[in-house]
Amino acid sequence: MKITVLNGSPRKQNTAAMVEAFAEGAKAAGHEVEVIQVGKMKIGGCLACEYCHGKGEGKCIQKDDMEKVMPAYKDCDMIVFASPIYYFDMTAQLSAAIQRVYAIGKPTKATKAALLLSSASPNPFEGAIATYKTMIGYMGLEDAGIITAAGEENGSEAKLKEICDFAKAL
Ligand SMILES: Cc1cc2nc3c(=O)[nH]c(=O)nc-3n(C[C@H](O)[C@H](O)[C@H](O)COP(=O)(O)O)c2cc1C
Repeated sequence: MKITVLNGSPRKQNTAAMVEAFAEGAKAAGHEVEVIQVGKMKIGGCLACEYCHGKGEGKCIQKDDMEKVMPAYKDCDMIVFASPIYYFDMTAQLSAAIQRVYAIGKPTKATKAALLLSSASPNPFEGAIATYKTMIGYMGLEDAGIITAAGEENGSEAKLKEICDFAKAL
């Protein structure tokens, strides 16, 4: 499978470690993995201008880093959403990247999704998980799994192994 990971973290720390563990396991299982550092990108929110549904024919009027994310929605078999929790939700950059799928409607080829979340406190995941579940339902993707790391679980050998094993089993 061709797997794209959209990493919503702007820094290389806890979420990045989860993404690395995932990529290691998925590659070991023979999958092709591309990680897109969405959290470091400039991705504007949808302007609701409808250019994409008219003259643009599936292209957004905004010329920003979403041009680097869009191929994932068109070409990959599985999309992994990874994010730190910012105020009980995914980061704004990842949210924008998800909502900008509007230009093409739904991912063209992907059939599966997974979610990796990192937080400081014990259980602030409900909002991000609800967004993920409803959005992949809308996109027609099957949930392959959700893994969270809270507080001291971040970077722990046990958590990284859990993620690596999860990816190996895909
Ligand atoms: C702006 C901001 C908001 C945050 N909000 C929450 C929160 O609501 N709940 C929580 O447990 N942690 C929150 N955190 C902490 C991060 O989720 C946590 O440190 C996470 O492990 C960071 O991942 P990273 O190393 O990939 O950036 C917040 C951090 C920032 C910078």
